[in-house]
Amino acid sequence: MKIKNVCILGAGTLGTRVALQAALSQFNVRIYDINPKALDTSKKTMETIVHQLAKSSGFEADSGLNAIQGIFFTDNPQVAVQDADIINESVLENVKVKNEVWELFGQIAPEKTIFTTNTSFLLPSMFAEISGRPERFCALHFHDVFYAKGVDIMPHPGTDPKLIPVLEAFGRSLEQVPVVIQKENHGYLFNAMLGAILSTAGKLLANGVGSVEAIDKSYMVNFRVDMGPFAIMDSIGLDTVWHVTVNNNEEGSKAFAALLKGMLDQGKAGVKSGEGFYKYPNPAFRQPGFLS
Ligand SMILES: NC(=O)c1ccc[n+]([C@@H]2O[C@H](COP(=O)([O-])OP(=O)(O)OC[C@H]3O[C@@H](n4cnc5c(N)ncnc54)[C@H](O)[C@@H]3O)[C@@H](O)[C@H]2O)c1
Repeated sequence: MKIKNVCILGAGTLGTRVALQAALSQFNVRIYDINPKALDTSKKTMETIVHQLAKSSGFEADSGLNAIQGIFFTDNPQVAVQDADIINESVLENVKVKNEVWELFGQIAPEKTIFTTNTSFLLPSMFAEISGRPERFCALHFHDVFYAKGVDIMPHPGTDPKLIPVLEAFGRSLEQVPVVIQKENHGYLFNAMLGAILSTAGKLLANGVGSVEAIDKSYMVNFRVDMGPFAIMDSIGLDTVWHVTVNNNEEGSKAFAALLKGMLDQGKAGVKSGEGFYKYPNPAFRQPGFLS
């Protein structure tokens, strides 16, 4: 199982990053989205990331921009999956949408194609059957790709175990650190831990216990990290955070889900929309003195 041709489904926050890293790692990349506007935005976001990488490391912007030129952006599913060795799906965190996408791609993908999903909190077994090839279906879940470099590999009970080393090698070739999860779990390992922190931060805010800034400061200064829970939520995307929160029946989560919904109705979806809990590109938590 040699992987050369990579097909990314969904050109949003995560699909864009995985596609860019795959192109930088010399794979042939096709990225598909149902929304042509998302494809335009994705290309622009890739260019921005390349310039950021060039600024923060010795990376050459021109080679990154060349890699973007080699990516094929399409809203045609047949063209997207043509000759794909692997699909990595990053469409909306919504069971119905993911089911529709996997049903479609199960029918049109070449026989050789490995199917992987990037779902954050759902399970691969929820889509494996509808894809028509449960034995070649596995979660391959990236985090931020450039900043947080873990990639979770989580099989469902019907996944062919031979797939795991193939996905580990693929993850490493994308400069990630593979982490194999032994049994299906909502949120893998890291997201399960992170989810508890983000949901507690959300409840503290919704209950008026602390402000966004105070909660983030408290976290940042004590863990000695450069982002707090609300900055992390902004980078994930508040729509994704809302999808997870609204399905959480714990007390306090509904109030936080309502707060998020209010922000989304005002177009505040986090980094990708320019505003969430903070305003971008120069959020307050990155300003000198935030932790003074
Ligand atoms: N944002 C993150 O940091 C992050 C990290 C790990 C995993 N994930 C997971 O990746 C997935 C995508 O998250 P995101 O934050 O990139 O979302 P996003 O909203 O930024 O992007 C989702 C994209 O899916 C597209 N889409 C919707 N319906 C589609 C369809 N039927 N066919 C093709 N494309 C369709 C949308 O047009 C959009 O461009 C989710 O499952 C999420 O849980 C996200």
